[in-house]
Amino acid sequence: MSEQRQPVGVIGVGWVGLVTAACFAELGHPVIARDILPEKVESLSRGELTIHEPELGDLLRRNAERITFTTDMEELLAGARLLFVCVDTPPTYSGDADLSRVRSVVADLSPDGGHVLVMKSTVPAGTGESIRRDLPGLPYVSCPEFLKEGSAVKDFMHPDRVVIGTDAGDEAGAAAVAALYEPLGGEILPTDVASAEMIKLASNAFLATKISFINEIANVCEEVGADVGEVSRGMGLDERIGSSFLRAGIGYGGSCFPKDVSALKMLAGNTGYHFQLLTAVIEVNELQKRRVVGKLEKHLGSLLGKRVALLGLAFKPDTDDMREASSLVLAARLQGEGAEVVAYDPVASERAGEMLGSVEMADSALEALDGVDAAVLVTEWGEFAELDWAEAAARMARPLLVDGRNFLDPVKLRALGFEYEGIGKSSVDAPTPAASD
Ligand code: UDX
Repeated sequence: MSEQRQPVGVIGVGWVGLVTAACFAELGHPVIARDILPEKVESLSRGELTIHEPELGDLLRRNAERITFTTDMEELLAGARLLFVCVDTPPTYSGDADLSRVRSVVADLSPDGGHVLVMKSTVPAGTGESIRRDLPGLPYVSCPEFLKEGSAVKDFMHPDRVVIGTDAGDEAGAAAVAALYEPLGGEILPTDVASAEMIKLASNAFLATKISFINEIANVCEEVGADVGEVSRGMGLDERIGSSFLRAGIGYGGSCFPKDVSALKMLAGNTGYHFQLLTAVIEVNELQKRRVVGKLEKHLGSLLGKRVALLGLAFKPDTDDMREASSLVLAARLQGEGAEVVAYDPVASERAGEMLGSVEMADSALEALDGVDAAVLVTEWGEFAELDWAEAAARMARPLLVDGRNFLDPVKLRALGFEYEGIGKSSVDAPTPAASD
């Protein structure tokens, strides 16, 4: 059998694992994907998607015959040579990455099985070296994943770069991984294992730093009458800065940024180095979620007994992922101030309902807005741009809107009678900036 057509093994079918499995199948490879959760494996085997991710359902249906989902590690080890480890590495109480799932996968492997361990899970620098020490002879390749939820399939299929880290002796394994990615056309960056591990952590930490930076700029803009949208546009035109990840808002969330920033800070700390900048990035992000409360109080005074609607709960649009979503902190803070909270999300309501027990869930945005004293746009779902905001204003007891993502048009909303508060904008009506493109 040729190298290309030997089944690819995927261990752990969370976001990264499922997308990896589906995309390699789409590229024509048979895939054996293993997860420890029988209910997940059963759902996927029946063709039922376990997460909300654009394009993924189609890809899995189209390639159903090429992918085998199983709970059986032996089946995977018997069929596949390249083993892509995609298990999660959540934060521990201390903020370090919890490597227990990675360790339990490694415990099932032996150096003489003819396999190559390809680490896709985000792990602290040094993990590869320690696994190689524990399992000498098992080829080890670090191949971090950079996909974003909501555009995961597109990101996988059109990578900016494919980082392939390997140390002396494991070059053949690295070449096999590179061959799998070659058809995708992204730049392949061969490097050593520790550097590959650092590239992933440093990339996420840098993006998170950009967001906390622009959020602090936004907070200053509010004080000096500037508009952060204009400021980030002006900054982004400088090629050295770039325009992406300069959208001010109520903080970053998700399964990666909070975890990876903290893991990098702890990794440095464990070596005796105090990573000052990341300490600030984390603190700014926490405070940013809470600023909404002050904005509401500015208009409503005490929030005790006030009814507040949250529009959007997922950590960003086009996903139902609630991990580290700003909405969780915000709902708790509002309830802590005595407010009654009602919420709506186009796809995450079910997941969110389980996490936000005392928050009332509405079936539509308009239903959530019925009789409320204020609304907060938390997640910039496309459907909120299309909402009948005149009807929304009529339904609200007080048409006060805090737009936590600067997503809506303040001029239009104010014309409809809204009191509008964005992030990093003056709260009085500003003239519409001239279109520049
Ligand atoms: C991120 C990385 O982008 C990806 O490369 C890595 O593999 C996993 O972590 P993801 O968690 O899916 O991906 O989300 P992303 O789109 O990066 O957004 C993260 C958070 O930052 C979201 O809460 C988003 O709302 C917020 N964000 C993003 C901002 O607040 N402002 C921005 O300008 C961009």
